[in-house]
Amino acid sequence: MGFKITKNKKTRYDSIDWNNLRFGVYFSDHIFISRYKDGKWDGGEIMPYGEMPMEPGLCTLHYGQTIFEGLKAFRRVDGKGANLFRGDMNAKRLNRSASLVCIPNYDVPTLIDGMKELIKIDNKFIPNQKGQSLYLRPVVFGSGNFLGVTASSEYMLIVMTSPVASYYAAGLNPVKIMVSDDHVRAVKGGVGAAKTAANYAASLYAGMDAHKKGFSQVLWLDGVNRKDIDEVGAMNIMFVIDGELITPSLEKGTVLAGVTRDTVLTLAREWGMKVTERNISIDEVTEAHKNGKLQEAFGTGTAAVISPVGQLTYKGNDMIINDMKIGPVSQKFYDTITGIQYGEIDDKHNWNIHVTF
Ligand code: COI
Repeated sequence: MGFKITKNKKTRYDSIDWNNLRFGVYFSDHIFISRYKDGKWDGGEIMPYGEMPMEPGLCTLHYGQTIFEGLKAFRRVDGKGANLFRGDMNAKRLNRSASLVCIPNYDVPTLIDGMKELIKIDNKFIPNQKGQSLYLRPVVFGSGNFLGVTASSEYMLIVMTSPVASYYAAGLNPVKIMVSDDHVRAVKGGVGAAKTAANYAASLYAGMDAHKKGFSQVLWLDGVNRKDIDEVGAMNIMFVIDGELITPSLEKGTVLAGVTRDTVLTLAREWGMKVTERNISIDEVTEAHKNGKLQEAFGTGTAAVISPVGQLTYKGNDMIINDMKIGPVSQKFYDTITGIQYGEIDDKHNWNIHVTF
């Protein structure tokens, strides 16, 4: 490892309301930072979290050349440090997102080492409670100052960490989701598969509308026919129809290749479930609901983990799923994944990166 480390002078620990932890509102003491200039990344260093000087000409503010990731470290139940869950997969996805918006790739082992060092140095910020974790947010952005639509020649990678509770205030309780048929998030040939700011900005208008109507999130349909299901934005979507686990395939390029999505599909196949990654339309889901075959729907994501969907509303039709209760399939995925993450269940896939401190 051997990163240069500059420690902060005053800890942020005491400013955190540990009894009312929420998602993404508190930050730990340090960041990992690396800079790209003259065609190469530097080796990276650890610095105090804090304000950063910025010029109004910062290209990312104008053209959104930025990507991010989200991953979590969990305090192990045996007291032996923390587990960083599937960090390698997130690091590789960061580079796939980078390529889609012309950001130079970052060395995967260096990023993993930087994140491990950050977890070590700020280990007191890893919450003790089950359901809580230390969220790591790597972000990479063009740091050049210029006007003109072109890729930056300078970049910054920053990893910050944030002690978090559930993403949804409802926790594991089922959420209500509105299917958008007038706004779209991504189109084939666009950047829907990248974790880039544009996709989230594109989701805000419909998201606010959904919130006003009492929904937690929006389910996005394909941008052309507005029929095939894409994803929720903060999570991928899965359906259990007549015993089969179905999720939109990644091939169309409008869906993020979720790490929790992959975890669920891997477990489901091992458990002998019938698993299908394919196009699934909102009409098929509506029909399955009408025929009593839609047993469960749930979202998967690092922040959301497993988020059961209790209601899906499409063109004014409220589809209540599993009586608004957590279904057995969602519960089993949640229990197994969190069990592995906290070190309660054998990690036979080597998904955890063990960080000792
Ligand atoms: C994550 O699941 O980590 C995400 O990045 C979703 C985010 C929009 C909170």
